[in-house]
Amino acid sequence: MERDIQVARLSNLRIHGPPVEHHVPQGTLSVAPLRFGDVVIDPPILQAPMAGYTNYAFRQIVREYGGVGLQATEMVNARGFVWLDEHEAEHPDRLWGVRDEARPLAVQIWDNDPEIMAKVGRRLVEEYRVSVVDINFGCPVKQVTERAHSGSYLLSQPQRMYAIISRLVAACTPTPVTAKIRLGCARDCINANEIARVVEDAGAAALTVHGRTAADFFKGHADWERIADIKHHLTSIPLIGNGDLDSAEKVVHAFRTFGVDGVMIARAALGRPWLFGQAAAALRGEAIPPDPSLELQKQCMLRHYDLVVERFGVQKGTYLMRKFACCYAQAKYGSRMFRTKIAQVSSPAEFYDIVQQYFPQDISDSETL
Ligand SMILES: Cc1cc2nc3c(=O)[nH]c(=O)nc-3n(C[C@H](O)[C@H](O)[C@H](O)COP(=O)(O)O)c2cc1C
Repeated sequence: MERDIQVARLSNLRIHGPPVEHHVPQGTLSVAPLRFGDVVIDPPILQAPMAGYTNYAFRQIVREYGGVGLQATEMVNARGFVWLDEHEAEHPDRLWGVRDEARPLAVQIWDNDPEIMAKVGRRLVEEYRVSVVDINFGCPVKQVTERAHSGSYLLSQPQRMYAIISRLVAACTPTPVTAKIRLGCARDCINANEIARVVEDAGAAALTVHGRTAADFFKGHADWERIADIKHHLTSIPLIGNGDLDSAEKVVHAFRTFGVDGVMIARAALGRPWLFGQAAAALRGEAIPPDPSLELQKQCMLRHYDLVVERFGVQKGTYLMRKFACCYAQAKYGSRMFRTKIAQVSSPAEFYDIVQQYFPQDISDSETL
């Protein structure tokens, strides 16, 4: 499943709508913190759940740069959790670190059975003390939709969605339960407005919308006009917009033009964890801090590697770091050779050696060599 989603393009992110301003006029935008029940999300910029990516190490890196109001784990299979529990096995690997991490933190779960979801939600609240339980109604991969009738498949089953959310809300109270959806299953059956009302009526504390349909997967661009339209169908819960936000300017543009209460950033933050801080500064009306120098970006990547190894061990961590290292180098002059080399790395010594030799450098540094 992760392999499927990883083929999603990590570049060419565009936001649909009027052209983006390069300078954010100060004092013209007032953005309030979000509230999910008693949980305050300030700034209203959320780090998206991403299977295979938003593990403990990535969350830690993002937290260190600041500017993120709420972080999320990778999606956790609720049925798998229950099975492990019944067999007295360790809880899902994806919950590693969650108990001790800084708050606020959301754990995202998926399944189609209200009782199973409620059971897991209760455990997450009581045992893990998570800040928010988020439900995945957006995953488009076959293993989740066709095989498990979960994720975005449930967008075609509003009554089932209502049952899942209301049962989970009852089990988790007072911890807020939120829902993350796409616009619909396909372009010819977009039903996000109807689904938004179901989510709100069932007692969810917030709704996040990725502005594509499940059939779109990651093709085309997110439709922010449709995200904006959903706002008219919600009466009391915040709307968080998601899709193609890859700069501080686009985050400001999303708030100003599309009237969302919060935004969620996914792919663009993978090799740029400082993006949240840039967006937060822009929302405060401050100058947007420049990207760190390439030397500092390299240091950030090495810190990320340390955390990945702490989390997964040397061997698995080194393999896993291949894809993260590629994200850090992406769209930089000279990155192709680095990516080719790092894609085959298998030991820490090799990793450091390749980084030293091939990670893109600031022009001024390379000129002095
Ligand atoms: C590799 C990958 C894994 C993802 N895993 C999840 C997930 O576990 N749960 C979820 O709700 N969305 C998941 N998504 C979707 C993102 O959270 C987000 O909705 C989507 O990437 C659009 O936002 P973006 O344009 O900022 O990337 C994933 C996306 C990618 C690229």
